[in-house]
Amino acid sequence: MCGVVGYVGPRKVVGVILEGLRRLEYRGYDSAGMAVHDGSSIRVEKVVGKVSDLASRVEGINLDGTLGVGHTRWATHGGVTGENAHPHRDQDGRFVLVHNGIVENYLDIRDQLESRGVSFYSQTDSEVVVKLLSQIYDGDMLRSLTELGRRLEGSYALVILSKDDPGGFYCVRKGSPLVLGLTEGEGFCASDVPPLLPYTKDVIYLEEGDIAEVRPGSVRIWDKDGRPVERPVHRIDWDVSMAEKDGYPHYMAKEIHEQGTVLRSTLKGRLSESGVDLGDDVHWDGDFLRSLRRINLVACGTSYYACLVAERVLERWTSLDVKVDIASEYRYRDVKIGADTLAVFVSQSGETADTLAAQRKVRSLGGRCLGITNVRGSTLAREVHDLLLLKAGPEIGVAATKTFMGQLGALYLLALKLGWERGDLNPVEASRLAYGLLKLPYEVERVLERDGDVKAAAERFCGYDDFLFLGRGFSYPIALEGALKLKEISYVHAEAYAAGEMKHGPIALLEPNVPVMVVIPKDGLYEKTLSNVQEARARKSPIVAVASDGDDLIDQMADWVIRIPRCEECFSPFISVIPLQQFAYHVAQLRGCEIDQPRNLAKSVTVE
Ligand code: F6R
Repeated sequence: MCGVVGYVGPRKVVGVILEGLRRLEYRGYDSAGMAVHDGSSIRVEKVVGKVSDLASRVEGINLDGTLGVGHTRWATHGGVTGENAHPHRDQDGRFVLVHNGIVENYLDIRDQLESRGVSFYSQTDSEVVVKLLSQIYDGDMLRSLTELGRRLEGSYALVILSKDDPGGFYCVRKGSPLVLGLTEGEGFCASDVPPLLPYTKDVIYLEEGDIAEVRPGSVRIWDKDGRPVERPVHRIDWDVSMAEKDGYPHYMAKEIHEQGTVLRSTLKGRLSESGVDLGDDVHWDGDFLRSLRRINLVACGTSYYACLVAERVLERWTSLDVKVDIASEYRYRDVKIGADTLAVFVSQSGETADTLAAQRKVRSLGGRCLGITNVRGSTLAREVHDLLLLKAGPEIGVAATKTFMGQLGALYLLALKLGWERGDLNPVEASRLAYGLLKLPYEVERVLERDGDVKAAAERFCGYDDFLFLGRGFSYPIALEGALKLKEISYVHAEAYAAGEMKHGPIALLEPNVPVMVVIPKDGLYEKTLSNVQEARARKSPIVAVASDGDDLIDQMADWVIRIPRCEECFSPFISVIPLQQFAYHVAQLRGCEIDQPRNLAKSVTVE
């Protein structure tokens, strides 16, 4: 959840670290810090606040050095205080480290160290790690880090400076991502690719247990037992502008706007009117596909809502028994996995702890796992049998938008492939659906152009503090996603229900101060949803409807109508989610919220 960076080379390290941290700030933003090695000593500066506060802090200080580490924090152990901010140092000032992850046995280690007279200034597990390293250190860094790895339980990406070694830094990775960047005469590391993009596109993803020594222009890597290993160099096809705001006021605005392009690139090369080709990372044959009886879809948050949409389309296009679950539940349930089950794990980051644990559970039961993620080098991508990449480009805004669009695209490709190749869909129908899917990026772009209408709705309704979102069928997961977007970035209380459930309890909440946002495209359940709108109206709730062009009836029922183009029922989620994302964005902006970095949230949830 935190972001770490490291640099060694000819550049002044302060600028490299601040820039790197800015590009990682989506991972955590309650405090920030850096350590700079000036050739003889290591100076640590840290602040409660954002990277911009750290920049102001170091502005007036002469931090000369070309080797350093940085950290942006999302608090886990201990409150948001200067003491708990990273980097952390040992008692002699010999080692300084930054840490992303959670060390689970830190209290035991802390007790042991305290009984030996070691004192602590913070409540963090990370300070325990650096002080343990200091105790273990026997003059040989590799041996000491190997031993450190044996003693720590939990997850960690560590970047470590040693006062006695002004020529480079060390990394240790278990359970939390760490990427190394390679260029002539320089060495980089970071929790994610964006900080490396201005300097290099050649990266190495450290693997579980790896230890690395990074010096200018050279990297040495060992496995958890200290044996030298080679790790492949990957060429990143993202460019630096993809991680910039590009003139938009917020990343979220830019990312909402990119969704037509994202959907096009998710579908590109994989879909034609004669078939679906999921590419070389999916290794199924016809016998496997025909043998399937069940499919389990597992994810968290927005990715889970994408799976709920997929549940409906898989039920419609295939004969499979479809089950969808939240990863944090699925991992502890007594699920039945057989040779006839395909388990699909959906995670934009590929690092979500619960989704990874659920995937490992299925693997341990002998199940076949497909990962759907946006990050090629992520843990999920490396652990699954088969992989489908979103190709959405980096998503920096904490609230997921364009990756949701990419996930829908990928899941629809999966559903169409299964339906087509198993013979559940007749070829004519399959080809017609493929055509419908291929047209969608253009439809998405048409909806995006209507942002002004949504902004007007946001201006009218931004003063309300409670919302109820309703939808049925394909629109129910979209209501859930719309409510999640609104609450996470504008802090407005928003609950979503299947419209038919409203009278079973939530209707008690309705009154003139609680608007109902209803997703009601002209589909097979339109009339049913309309009855629910009438029920809400009778309780004097203001009604905001996301409704199809040409639907005149809704004008008589709703206080405000946001129009979307008509489309085939099964494709409506691609279209109807957009005004809900835009509504949340504009409400948050009108209420003066921090859109790209909402409070308490982090983009990559690497803890349980
Ligand atoms: C909401 C949001 C989160 C994520 C969830 C899963 O806008 O971003 O709900 O969807 O934390 O993250 P991934 O998809 O990375 O597994």
